[in-house]
Amino acid sequence: MDTKFKRNFSIIAHIDHGKSTLADRLLQITNTVSEREMKEQLLDSMDLEREKGITIKAQAVTLFYDAKDGNRYELNLIDTPGHVDFIYEVSRSLAACEGALLVVDAAQGVEAQTLANVYLALENDLEILPVINKIDLPAADPEKVKEEIETVIGLDTDEAVLTSAKSGIGIEELLEEIVKKVPSPSGKPESPLKVLIFDSHFDDFRGVITYVRIVEGTLKKGDKLRIWSTGKDIEVLECGIFSPIMKPQNELTAGSVGYIISGIKSIQDTRIGDTIFNPKNPIEEPLEGYRPAQSMVFAGIYPISTEDYEDLREALEKLQLNDASLSFTPETSTALGFGFRCGFLGLLHMEIIVERLRREYNIDLISTTPSVEYRIHMENGEIKIIDNPAEFPIVGKKAVEEPYIKGTVITPKDYVGNVMELCQEKRGIYVDMQYLDETRTMITYELPLAEIVLDFYDKLKSKTKGYASFEYEMIGYKESKLVKVDILVSGEPVDAFSFICHSDNAYYRGRAITEKLKDVIPRQMFEIPIQAALGSKIIARETIRAYRKNVLAKCYGGDISRKKKLLEKQKQGKKRMKQIGNVEIPQEAFISVLKLD
Ligand code: GTP
Repeated sequence: MDTKFKRNFSIIAHIDHGKSTLADRLLQITNTVSEREMKEQLLDSMDLEREKGITIKAQAVTLFYDAKDGNRYELNLIDTPGHVDFIYEVSRSLAACEGALLVVDAAQGVEAQTLANVYLALENDLEILPVINKIDLPAADPEKVKEEIETVIGLDTDEAVLTSAKSGIGIEELLEEIVKKVPSPSGKPESPLKVLIFDSHFDDFRGVITYVRIVEGTLKKGDKLRIWSTGKDIEVLECGIFSPIMKPQNELTAGSVGYIISGIKSIQDTRIGDTIFNPKNPIEEPLEGYRPAQSMVFAGIYPISTEDYEDLREALEKLQLNDASLSFTPETSTALGFGFRCGFLGLLHMEIIVERLRREYNIDLISTTPSVEYRIHMENGEIKIIDNPAEFPIVGKKAVEEPYIKGTVITPKDYVGNVMELCQEKRGIYVDMQYLDETRTMITYELPLAEIVLDFYDKLKSKTKGYASFEYEMIGYKESKLVKVDILVSGEPVDAFSFICHSDNAYYRGRAITEKLKDVIPRQMFEIPIQAALGSKIIARETIRAYRKNVLAKCYGGDISRKKKLLEKQKQGKKRMKQIGNVEIPQEAFISVLKLD
């Protein structure tokens, strides 16, 4: 098809503002899927994704629309992940588009996430079409939302489309707007080939499926191509479009979006953002903006039972096949045994991986407290980068730096005080406050990433009754007074309990952990001191008194089978204990310490 009849666009929206429902409607009205085939929320295909109600992986679909001007248009809708953890994937997906539909809930208004994605779309020079959705709701106030879009984002909303994705209002009008307003792609089919990889996934039968946007040139089945950053040669075994299932084509031309299959076995080889070109007709420069995904949050993952170690490794390898942003290396802990140090894009990414390991691979595991990457300047000029408290040097440090973010919170004005209090408590530096309208406020703070990864979201939710939305971006490293606190059980340091924190919080957090451990470690036959230590200085101490637990005490009658059962239960309980020196620590202790706030 001639590029002038192609339109590539994305939908950006805050969670729950109706992105998936709207996408479904577009598919339905263009007969891309028949009503019968229409499965609710077709674009969100992963189970976990549906359960958590968020879109994780970008996906694409090609629609053909017969517009009122009598022409048939190829519309490529590229779905983007909704969460900040996947912001890099969002930005690559947007790079494959010329336009974006900005969907805003008519009853809720602009939220923090909407903003972050709009800024990304603007950076990518996309034409943004405001869409006010859910106008069927009794609480809908499209005029107010339009005003908000104008003041906060500065977009003209005169021609904003009003829709109800649920009841199908305004969908046709929206398609017309897309055809009219979204620019057609500028690439030429006869130019040297330049292909953007904007996503990829691993299929058990077909190997890696690479999602591509043909930026320049023409790609044909059988072409022998090369990937820019790795220099790896590939052969196009199949190329095609998503409609929404994969539909093979003989060629894909400039401006089109689709997939290629090239027999690649690992998605590590087809990184998001990379460029594919044809070495027979080489290009001078790759497409802009490629960078490998970077882990922001790190944690140890340990199987509860050591027999599961190999299964855990296999499971991680499998997950990595489909997720190039997951990294892991083997790690040992005296307390937890053999496990893996894993790197994640963010906390949500970590939660999803841990949940999938538990659910899809049936592995019981413990994850350590998430940590960030610290930069340590040593006296000898060396710079150490560490993400594990165990590697924190005790002597020879000159300065320690930690990653900071710029966080934006949008909240009803009644909760402004609570939000500011929380940000201060989390060592935030106030930047700015802006009134969006008479009821809502946007607050900006700089905060240490380490404070965000712990429990910021949960606290923000509870302090604003769930009304605030939050978004952040990395702004770089800042020097902080950071220390490592060790926890000693019976005089022995337990590495899994160690943590890095700001020196002002060391005493309070040390005491909270020792108190918690006192409650969860059962009494044993001797006295057990539990201490928190800053280097050689003890900053908190609790003692568990000696005690012998007689499990049969409850059993007054002579029922022998009941006695046996209780003894058996005690034995089982022992199995789930970890021996540290002469003290047995139950698994629950590790978990409860990690959950400490
Ligand atoms: P994520 O995938 O979580 O980012 O959410 P989303 O933006 O894709 O939202 P989704 O389409 O899942 O819609 C969220 C909820 O809003 C669902 O319960 C939809 O049924 C509902 N919804 C979507 N559009 C409309 C609409 O126009 N009117 C009404 N009343 N409800 C809608």
